[in-house]
Amino acid sequence: MGAPRGQFSSRIGFLMASTGSAVGLGNIWGFPTKVASNGGAAFVVVYLLLAFLLAYPALMAELTIGRHARSNMVQALRGISRGSTSYFFGSLAGFSGLLVAALILSFYAIVAGWMISHLASPVANLLGANDVAAWFTGDSIIRNLSFTAIFSGLTMLIIASGVEKGIERWSTLLMPTLLLLMFLLIAYVLTQDGAMTGLEVYLNPDFGQLSPQLLLSAMGQAFFSLSIGVGTMLIYGSYLSQQESLPRLGALVTLIDVGIAFTAGLLILPAMYVAQTSGTQIFAESGELIAGPGLILQVLPALFDNMGSIGLLVAIAFFALMVIASLTSSISMLEVPVAFTIENFGMRRKTATLLAGSIIFSISTLIIFNFEGLFGFIVSFSTEYGQPLLGIALCIFAGWIWRRDQLLAELKKGHKNIEHTLFWKIWPWYVRIVCPLLILAAFVQSVL
Ligand code: PHE
Repeated sequence: MGAPRGQFSSRIGFLMASTGSAVGLGNIWGFPTKVASNGGAAFVVVYLLLAFLLAYPALMAELTIGRHARSNMVQALRGISRGSTSYFFGSLAGFSGLLVAALILSFYAIVAGWMISHLASPVANLLGANDVAAWFTGDSIIRNLSFTAIFSGLTMLIIASGVEKGIERWSTLLMPTLLLLMFLLIAYVLTQDGAMTGLEVYLNPDFGQLSPQLLLSAMGQAFFSLSIGVGTMLIYGSYLSQQESLPRLGALVTLIDVGIAFTAGLLILPAMYVAQTSGTQIFAESGELIAGPGLILQVLPALFDNMGSIGLLVAIAFFALMVIASLTSSISMLEVPVAFTIENFGMRRKTATLLAGSIIFSISTLIIFNFEGLFGFIVSFSTEYGQPLLGIALCIFAGWIWRRDQLLAELKKGHKNIEHTLFWKIWPWYVRIVCPLLILAAFVQSVL
């Protein structure tokens, strides 16, 4: 057998790691731009509702199953199954979780690689190496490969150091830095011309834009942002002490994740309108705000360029923020296959990290060489199909297959009077019936 299982050393350590997983490109890039293109604050309201009504219950399913099983998703779902059929579906869901986590990481590492190259570019400018700086931001296969490799290497280094010395230590260092950078940037951007228009667009609800499509987009965003379905929260739950109250910690993670997404909007939307004031195009030809890679890779860099020399520092701070957000998320994705390999094959952590990391990097390489054909496909396969379907599977396991007395016993650890709380009155049937049906309804609608 391998070494004893890792564990977070404290509640703060768990909170840093799990909010680190949750807060990522999805919050700082995805959320604000979806708000901008979906009716401003109307989207914020819908998102808040869905985060608490759908994503939080599913998150609770993952955390509770994980802490009970003290193992990866495959073993955990097998462990709570009650016959050969549920054992089979547990294995299927567990392995699908592994696959989807790997696929998400394979595209995430490419995007995070862009963030590193855009961080390196102003640094090179500062050092006077302007040609190198231009190469860093120019789009080329070799540039993409190199920076994806650097990002994957960083992710692997942290994961190879284990739960406490790797995940917990780095999340605890990086998350406060992320917040500090974000507040500094907001303070600066809000003093610039045009920022108030951006703030208005962000905070002014246009409920006329509410539509099934918006609902779906908000649900996908909530699942992606809370890292649900692929076993990351499950494995982090499995490293959590039994003295902690799961419903409270889960609510805190949801609250912090939503709070940081909202705060990121106070940066991105005003920054876009500041860019417009200084002459940068922020609307695509279709009349919509530029939201895709063009936003982060063209609109904002153009803004930083127009700011003169302070722009270099602002660019460094902004892309450092993006890299940090990506890294605390990517480690949680890589931990999924690594924990599985350690626990299933008794492999050493370092070997398992090298193996899983290299396989995922190969998938990234494949995507880089076939970008047009693969990138969009893998993003939508893993986040629009994989995550919601796996979310349903986890709710079914927590709500129907797991024995109710065991579930209660797990929740009682760290929360003695749970039976008398509103949480216990609502959540078990909610996760059993309401969650799977709502997710399914939204999913079916999107497929049709
Ligand atoms: N929650 C991360 C983000 O918002 C992405 C993520 C998805 C992380 C799935 C882990 C698992 O960017």
